[in-house]
Amino acid sequence: MTEAQRAGASVGLTFDRITIEGGKPLQGEVDVRGAKNLVTKAMVASLLSEGVSVLRDVPDISDVRVVRGLLEIHGVTVKPGVESGELLLDAGNVRSAHMREIDAHAGSSRIPILFCGPLLHQLGEAFIPDLGGCRIGDRPINFHLDALRNFGAVVEKLPTGIRLSAPNGLHGAHVHLPYPSVGATEQTLLTAVRAKGVTELRNAAIEPEIMDLIAILQKMGAIISVEPNRVILIEGVDELRGYTHRAIFDRNEAASWASAALATHGDVFVHGAKQEHMMTFLNIFRKVGGAFDIEEHGIRFWHPGGPLKPVVIETDVHPGFMTDWQQPLVVALTQAEGVSTVHETVYENRFGFTEALQKMGADIRVHPRGFAAPHRRVPRRDLEQAAVITGPTPLHGADIEVPDLRGGFSHLIAAMTAEGTSTVRNVGIISRGYENFEGKLRALGARFTVDG
Ligand code: EPU
Repeated sequence: MTEAQRAGASVGLTFDRITIEGGKPLQGEVDVRGAKNLVTKAMVASLLSEGVSVLRDVPDISDVRVVRGLLEIHGVTVKPGVESGELLLDAGNVRSAHMREIDAHAGSSRIPILFCGPLLHQLGEAFIPDLGGCRIGDRPINFHLDALRNFGAVVEKLPTGIRLSAPNGLHGAHVHLPYPSVGATEQTLLTAVRAKGVTELRNAAIEPEIMDLIAILQKMGAIISVEPNRVILIEGVDELRGYTHRAIFDRNEAASWASAALATHGDVFVHGAKQEHMMTFLNIFRKVGGAFDIEEHGIRFWHPGGPLKPVVIETDVHPGFMTDWQQPLVVALTQAEGVSTVHETVYENRFGFTEALQKMGADIRVHPRGFAAPHRRVPRRDLEQAAVITGPTPLHGADIEVPDLRGGFSHLIAAMTAEGTSTVRNVGIISRGYENFEGKLRALGARFTVDG
């Protein structure tokens, strides 16, 4: 089974390929639920207590299924609650998992690395299988392991994964991240909340999903203060209790539908989207020539007519322009009049998806070493790339293959923008992060057929 088929099968997708008849504006309404990049971490946080946690607005995506499976093999009971999208997580009987159960999850997601701290607290040891996730760069875990060692964990790398133990328990630490990594910040939070003493985390990531995770941990009994200048202080406590929480909305999914509306000359109301966590995206959307209206229950995004304008974007950590937003937006930029530049500074390989767009008629040049840019918001590492997009270029249908989650959604947008028929293969990957994307496309009037 391919990765796409595995991802698709786990959320009940019966197809791996979509054939789209493009050239029709997307029009209508879609709902977005809880953010993939919060919900999966919130599920891991339930492991820190011995009580029952209630998580609301959980989308039915394959990454959630993967984390659920991992929790279940460690003794957590995960059941649906009464309302749609509600999960009840009972961590009353946490236990070590069998090696073969853990192995079955190898390569499935990057979330298992966040089990380290909670399992060390609960069981005194942890085994983490080899990680998966999108192939958008090297994605090392050195910041995670360095932080865990600072807490007193002993890390042993094995051919099949990583074994961790804490012979002297976990104690508060000074963690200074070389870069404000989202995952390493979460790792530090999930470990520090029950470590003995105070932890000072410097150069932390401050994405809204991290703030939501901190809110959950506070509900559980943690003492965490977010200080100026990316400093987070955590006072360890002995015990945490279960939480009840409604997840923050998925701003990546919202930005994806907004980009789809713009590229296809459409008009889409995204139920559940909120302005405050999308301000940077909204500014760029407006500069490109897109229109939006902030309403009480969501945001309406549309193409107001007239030419789109080129922009210069540099992806960054929050509050900058998110890396996950660039892939869907690039399709709309192929329709702008002039030259746009997108610098990707978070991952070293996130323009693979542009090959398919070139095949469809886009004029995109990828510069693997990026361009010099003197004014940076955060210290830079040597891994940037840039894409120069010259438009407008009409897109035509093609046979294309999804390389990764966000790239996959941008392929769907391109196929819907293009004149003629496109076949998009490997669409199972998209179900890792987009709930019922085919149902939503149908509701927006897209013309397509699916097959396996
Ligand atoms: N990095 C290291 N060493 C580490 C950890 C990270 O060098 O130990 C590097 C990475 O290789 C990358 C950069 O730091 O170049 C940023 O990585 P970060 O740790 O911030 O990202 P992540 O936690 O692995 C999460 C999201 C990504 C999102 C990024 C940035 C999840 C499950 N994933 O990844 O989401 O792009 O933060 O906001 O939360 C997606 O949803 O499609 C996706 C890839």
